[in-house]
Amino acid sequence: MDQKLVQAAGWIRESREILVFTGAGISAESGIPTFRDGSGLWQEFPPEQFATWQGLLETAATHPQRLVEFLYAVLAPIAAAEPNAAHRAIADAERHTGIKVVTQNVDGLHQEAGSTCVYEVHGSFLEIVTRERRFLRLISRAEMQAVSARLERLRRGWFALPRLMVAVRPALGCGTAGLYHPNLVLFGDALAEPAWTQAMAATHACDLVLQVGCSGAVWPAAGLPTEARENGARIVAVDPQPVAADLWLRGTATQIVPQLFQQAFGLAP
Ligand code: APR
Repeated sequence: MDQKLVQAAGWIRESREILVFTGAGISAESGIPTFRDGSGLWQEFPPEQFATWQGLLETAATHPQRLVEFLYAVLAPIAAAEPNAAHRAIADAERHTGIKVVTQNVDGLHQEAGSTCVYEVHGSFLEIVTRERRFLRLISRAEMQAVSARLERLRRGWFALPRLMVAVRPALGCGTAGLYHPNLVLFGDALAEPAWTQAMAATHACDLVLQVGCSGAVWPAAGLPTEARENGARIVAVDPQPVAADLWLRGTATQIVPQLFQQAFGLAP
């Protein structure tokens, strides 16, 4: 057994309040691409064009087919995703210790795995809101699969804007409440509230951060582990790539996270 994993498990066992801080890496093994890895989303779709509302509107006006490609590339994996062993291990660990999850992901997989305290600081693809971010409704993964199927047909067939608007209507369009869209925090947006305020409080209350699958590239969310450390918390990071932490456990989320909690709480593998 990796001695660093044994040591990290000991820190988890001693902790009274753990902040689990996750990024795209924890959902990679659920089939959702990350952003900055070799084949990451931003390699194919430059964020200046696709990660701001202004850029999306310009792309819709000038290269609508590229917009269809992007929407499909983002939506199809989330629509088809299921929680993996790492999501489930984090949810199960709530039976043994205090755990709050702060995630940069918008895929809803922590909640689907059973985590009861999840702060989505970059919003959620499963929530539909108005331009003023007033909550309208939840969209199910089944509805997202239907939208994704229509986008797939649009990718392969002839493009027409009315066909795109019909394809995305459950998630994006104009209704009695005006324009509505998924509750996503894009570059330039303020972070989702009250999630961000709750995430800051959890950061100051924890004595251990378990960081899983985060590149640390996007602030202010990326600053949470450092903020916790300045308050006396220790940082354990799980990532195939080197990351700054008190203990870096090299490996993927599903390879490491279940083992870590099994070792910490003597759970049956
Ligand atoms: N298990 C664990 N970690 C993984 C795995 C895996 N199977 N695969 C990749 N990783 C790691 C990568 O090594 C990297 O450190 O996950 C991290 C993914 O980094 P990014 O793609 O930058 O994703 P993230 O850190 O979540 O990005 C933050 O940037 O564009 C914005 O809003 C977007 O929320 C996102 C934010």
